Amino acid sequence: MHKRLQAYLEFYREELQKAYTSCFDKLEIPANLKQSMLYSLDAGGKRLRPILLFASYEVYGQDVQKVMSSAIALEMIHTYSLIHDDLPAMDNDDYRRGMLTNHKKFDEATAILAGDALLTYSFELILSDPLLTSEEKVVLAKELAACSGPKGMVGGQILDMEAEKQSVSLEAMEEIHALKTGELIRFAIFTGAYLANATDEQLQYLKQYAYYLGLIFQVQDDILDVSGEEEKLGKRVGSDELNEKSTYPKLLGLDGAIAQKEKYVQKAYESLRLAGAEDSLLKALTDYFSQRDH
Ligand code: IPE
Ligand code: IPE
Ligand code: MG
Ligand code: MG
Ligand code: MG
Repeated sequence: MHKRLQAYLEFYREELQKAYTSCFDKLEIPANLKQSMLYSLDAGGKRLRPILLFASYEVYGQDVQKVMSSAIALEMIHTYSLIHDDLPAMDNDDYRRGMLTNHKKFDEATAILAGDALLTYSFELILSDPLLTSEEKVVLAKELAACSGPKGMVGGQILDMEAEKQSVSLEAMEEIHALKTGELIRFAIFTGAYLANATDEQLQYLKQYAYYLGLIFQVQDDILDVSGEEEKLGKRVGSDELNEKSTYPKLLGLDGAIAQKEKYVQKAYESLRLAGAEDSLLKALTDYFSQRDH
């Protein structure tokens, strides 16, 4: 991996961990709920969405403390989406981030509530951040609700379930992936650039970039579900086939999925260039998203 990127990932993973740990230290909530929320948060996710947010901020801005509450909020919403995604009623998976899934470690009711709590607490965090102006809070809360709700991740998750055992077109699959995965990635890219006062034009090109990056990320996730190593991934391989999911490898074959991903990578580069961010870490992150092995 790109040396600078490796150092960046390590540094910001730690910063994020410190920041959310200090939020939870002060949080007085039922002990079992806190334990269950922290179990999944601490389980060792890659933190790629917060890192994208930091990287997007740093293209145009400086002190990343400005985006810390948004980064934590985003990782909490992502973690909630995974807890619910793993439930028996959804993908029914037993391992996540190298550990038992939340409902296996605790129980289903606790896992559902831990997810609910991570979702709602994320909004409270942003709305009580003294480093954000009132206007910024309104914009961020609206964007976060849009990208994680029925027009975003949740909408994509239901399309994903409805597409089980179906054969869907490439366009339909792009829509599912863009919603269930792409929208949280869009929030990361948008929030970083917005809080660093990027221009409307830059935001527009970055939105395009985020769209392709979301597709790249999920195509690679689908590829790893076929050809990855469980040890590295920390989750079960073959889960998609078992659930008869609509995925890129199923539609296009493994080579076809890789070729399609490459097309998205070229589009992502082009959008980055138009946003004036081709020399930023976002470029290296794009390559990492497309080539990662976990
Ligand atoms: C997994 O996301 C869920 C998808 C949207 C494909 P990640 O691969 O980023 O999971 P963690 O956060 O590292 O566990
Ligand atoms: C999940 O997609 C996307 C979410 C919104 C959580 P997957 O179901 O493919 O994610 P994994 O493979 O379980 O991590
Ligand atoms: Mg799923
Ligand atoms: Mg899943
Ligand atoms: Mg998957």
